[in-house]
Amino acid sequence: MNEKRFQRVWITGGSSGIGRALALHYAREGAYVLVSGRNAERLDEVARATGGATYPLDVTDAEAVKRTVAAVWEDAGPLDLAVLNAGAAFKREGRDDTAVNLKRHLDVNLMGVAHALDALRPRMREAGGGTIALVGSLAGYVGLPRTSGYGTSKAALGYYAEALWAELQRENIDLKLISPGFVKTPIIAANEFPMPFMLEPEEAARIIARGLERPGFEVAFPRRLAWPLRLLRVLPASWRVRLVAAAERRARRR
Ligand SMILES: NC(=O)c1ccc[n+]([C@@H]2O[C@H](COP(=O)([O-])OP(=O)(O)OC[C@H]3O[C@@H](n4cnc5c(N)ncnc54)[C@H](OP(=O)(O)O)[C@@H]3O)[C@@H](O)[C@H]2O)c1
Repeated sequence: MNEKRFQRVWITGGSSGIGRALALHYAREGAYVLVSGRNAERLDEVARATGGATYPLDVTDAEAVKRTVAAVWEDAGPLDLAVLNAGAAFKREGRDDTAVNLKRHLDVNLMGVAHALDALRPRMREAGGGTIALVGSLAGYVGLPRTSGYGTSKAALGYYAEALWAELQRENIDLKLISPGFVKTPIIAANEFPMPFMLEPEEAARIIARGLERPGFEVAFPRRLAWPLRLLRVLPASWRVRLVAAAERRARRR
């Protein structure tokens, strides 16, 4: 239905996991795919498979992001889709390091996205519009134990996307939020808690691509994890923290 909808696609975090699977998906659909990430070797492997181009980049460096967006635009022409997917999860070192841990997450998962969005926006506006997808997480829906830094950065990203949606819409830029559950990629490899309804990256990529063709703001999946979390979100916070803590205690005992 959309074979030709996205013809020039830039994906940050395209060297691995969901970003890599999305790059392969769009290349199969006939799009020209440009990928960014820090690991040039892994990017090259993706480019060999997609026939696309690579732009090594650390998204925490705002100036480098600006230069990369300019280069992408110059080389490929106006993008119709940018997937701001680069993200990271860092383990806490001890009990008293929430600030250091939070900052590391915010730098990549929130500021990295904001740098790219600001660099893309004027070009997309001038080109007449386009789609920008931000990759958040279901972990941002409610405060979950053992993920204060990562979850806070993803909750903030969800807020950021909602807050900007209307102003970007006026510029004909369709801002989408992608909220995945657990996907089997390196980012979750070190997690030591139960991860229900895990998907393979290829399946996640298919769901994301289908969602991006549709008119809605958010692509949240899998539904069987998204819905219970949505329900938790509407409870009073004082009930929610108790319910989540009780579930955490049960999971620890298993
Ligand atoms: N897997 C899950 O269960 C899950 C669930 C919800 C949301 N997500 C989100 O999905 C996105 C993709 O993650 P993934 O699961 O595919 O994990 P992944 O395989 O570890 O991929 C993360 C990607 O981000 C890139 N990246 C990390 N830090 C970067 C930086 N400073 N600058 C540029 N690129 C950077 C990595 O590339 P380099 O190492 O080459 O820089 C890599 O390509 C992330 O935003 C993640 O938070 C994942």
